Amino acid sequence: MTRVAQAGVGQWGKNLARNFDELGELVAVCDVDEVRLEELRKRYPLARVTPDFDELLTDDVDAVVVATPVPTHYELARRALEAGKHVLVEKPPAMRGAEMEELVELAEERGCVLMPGHLLLYHPGVQMMKELVVSGALGDVLCVYGNRQNLGTIRTNENALWSLGVHDLSVLLYLVDEEPAELWAHGHAFLNPGVEDVVFCYLLFPSGKIAHMHLSWLDPHKIRRITVVGRDKMAVFDDMELERKVTIYDKAPEQPTTTYGEWRTRTGDIYSPKIPNTEPLRLECQHFLRLVAGEGDPLRAARDGLVVVRALEQLQASLEAVTAA
Ligand SMILES: NC(=O)c1ccc[n+]([C@@H]2O[C@H](COP(=O)([O-])OP(=O)(O)OC[C@H]3O[C@@H](n4cnc5c(N)ncnc54)[C@H](O)[C@@H]3O)[C@@H](O)[C@H]2O)c1
Repeated sequence: MTRVAQAGVGQWGKNLARNFDELGELVAVCDVDEVRLEELRKRYPLARVTPDFDELLTDDVDAVVVATPVPTHYELARRALEAGKHVLVEKPPAMRGAEMEELVELAEERGCVLMPGHLLLYHPGVQMMKELVVSGALGDVLCVYGNRQNLGTIRTNENALWSLGVHDLSVLLYLVDEEPAELWAHGHAFLNPGVEDVVFCYLLFPSGKIAHMHLSWLDPHKIRRITVVGRDKMAVFDDMELERKVTIYDKAPEQPTTTYGEWRTRTGDIYSPKIPNTEPLRLECQHFLRLVAGEGDPLRAARDGLVVVRALEQLQASLEAVTAA
């Protein structure tokens, strides 16, 4: 049994705490909010409840979950790793590539698991998309893109790239499995000065594959979609769909010999495979516990997370360069 402690039990963190309570042994919880602490004492009477993060770093704790606000992730994850604890840290684990590199090195040095909470990677629909890519069922992948738009929560402390983009970026990089060679972002702050509500990103990979993302909380459409365009088939993961989360389009351009080099389009079946509806967060937590138990590469997720943080950092720099020009 892995003894888990958690820092930050807010809107999202309470889902993590529930899962670890059901799956393992939630031995301690920490939050700086006194009202939350009172609720936690009632909800988890057997756990140690404390406002002091250092009280999670004791010998009777094996792993620490960090679900506090983004600017605190790096510092808390670093302190937990220094104390020799396995760490699951909400996305993004750090706001700078150099900080994330430091966390990965520290985890390696201490022999600890470091896993970012990239929830969508554990979604059975995204796993199906990965299978389609890896098995070659779509043919060579040419381009991938993400749409995450809505007339949604208007943030004042983080822009659409950081607030909405982390999920899609983690999935696009997971599907392509390459570090992007070039990244550009354009965006605009319409509502709050300096906070881009609408961001368009473009990524070019060493293999020549391309990706883009449209991120916005200023849009009439509620879209959460990842599209993969392969040479032979195309696939879409649509998180707004209840049943048809993944759709495969047997359509592609082709150059039959009869047309003497001219391109034609082929359209075939459109179908949706069955996707299990297991809660992705449950799968994410189970994956973390398996890593802690010694199954699988303890740092693979962290290295992938480093690529995500680096890409975010470069996209932000591109966004600022364009705004400044
Ligand atoms: N993976 C996902 O799909 C997903 C979804 C939503 C949020 N998140 C991430 O989860 C994290 C938390 O988001 P939230 O919506 O629960 O935020 P929230 O503001 O509701 O909760 C954060 C909690 O952390 C506490 N806190 C702040 N600093 C602390 C510290 N130093 N030590 C202990 N507790 C501290 C706050 O009091 C609060 O209770 C964020 O990083 C966010 O990006 C992930």
